[in-house]
Amino acid sequence: MIKSEVLASAHAILDEAILYHNGEPVGVAAALDTSGALANYEECFVRDFVPCALVFLMDGKADIVRNFLKLIVELKSQQSVMAGHDRALGLMPASFKVPKAGKEGKPTADFGDRAIGRVAPVDSAMWWMILLRAYVINTGDLALAQTPEFQESIRHILELYMKESFETSPSMLVPDASFMIDRRMGVYGHPLEIQALFYATLRTAQELLLPTPENERLLDNSRKRLKTLVSYVRVYYWLDMQRLNEIHRFRSEEFGEDAVNVLNIYPETIPDWLDGWLPANAGYMVGNLGVGRIDFRFFAFGNLLSILFGLAADNQAEQIMNLFEERWEDLVGTMPVKICFPAVAGDKWAYTTGSDPKNAPWSYHNGGNWPCLLWAFTGAAIHTGHHELAKKVLETASEKLMEDNWPEYYDGRRGRLIGRRANLKQTWSAAAVIVSHRLQEDPGALPVFESINF
Ligand code: GLC
Repeated sequence: MIKSEVLASAHAILDEAILYHNGEPVGVAAALDTSGALANYEECFVRDFVPCALVFLMDGKADIVRNFLKLIVELKSQQSVMAGHDRALGLMPASFKVPKAGKEGKPTADFGDRAIGRVAPVDSAMWWMILLRAYVINTGDLALAQTPEFQESIRHILELYMKESFETSPSMLVPDASFMIDRRMGVYGHPLEIQALFYATLRTAQELLLPTPENERLLDNSRKRLKTLVSYVRVYYWLDMQRLNEIHRFRSEEFGEDAVNVLNIYPETIPDWLDGWLPANAGYMVGNLGVGRIDFRFFAFGNLLSILFGLAADNQAEQIMNLFEERWEDLVGTMPVKICFPAVAGDKWAYTTGSDPKNAPWSYHNGGNWPCLLWAFTGAAIHTGHHELAKKVLETASEKLMEDNWPEYYDGRRGRLIGRRANLKQTWSAAAVIVSHRLQEDPGALPVFESINF
């Protein structure tokens, strides 16, 4: 059980982080740490808002979620100036800021045009869709999703995200750093987290986009894409001992339609650390897939979202949770959840991260432990019937988080050190603990972000 003072402390962070515009709550600041935090942590990040929104929805404070969803739609129009040319309207901002209390002005959005490294927030619009669905399920306010502005936004997202490019696979191609991992980390291409979000987005569109003649083609295309995406990911991203054996014995240079090793993966690409690490009764979705390339690193968020959104088949979901159980020290350690395992070091660190000191081995995105992932872990554990893992994870984390003043991330192989450059009072760290607690108390709250109604 979580102590009541831990929950009270988490709620206090969340309440204090609320941002207001014209007297209305519209979002939350990413962190309340005023000492070392970067200026943009005062902004509301779309992805960070999601676990906070789940708390607000569960607490019956749906107005802030509604205001947020509406504001993001309004802010879309600000992005045409980015890069000096008109851009597709489906992109949604990474973050926005509101004028300081007492100051006049409008909220302003960042579409990656101000962000460190100028990264494109590909995940934002997908989180907006997923949150809209959660809001509709929680409140029954389908009317909001059916307003012309919201219908137009959904249409714009589908048009942009399903746009044909130079793809031969149904998975979505993105640049490096375009989602939660928003620094160079060798996650360009077809990262798992993006595929999980894409899958949930397409499913949500099936529910929320009205079947008008204008939308028929989009709905039809997204239905087809859903089918090909799910079967592709379940086969080609999946890794268990059987699949590892197959890859180990792959023939290469196969040409033509009967090829088995379709992406021409060379067995030599299998990293040493996998030998002996993958247990017999477990498996996971690999981090990324491309021509001649499997990124074998384990990315926690992509795997957890695949379970929550139903992208992973039931037996795969089960085996992913088995992996957490069997490799607890590596993947959870003293602070849930390690964002990516293992870390890259040495020359590999230099060319994967661009020698980024923030992403030093076992720190930040490169193998750091992120409490904000707790909600997804708890949700996935409960979804697969692993209530004991959900319990264990909260016991491991919650008191320490409060004592450490809610850090953004932890460093070290086991996540025992407060992240070297971590903000304190990080809002989504606090929100994740509250959501996890609520889900344990009432697993019936799970459908808010689960795919069972699709
Ligand atoms: C960092 C994280 C990103 C998060 C942001 C605000 O940039 O990588 O995922 O949204 O901080 O907390």
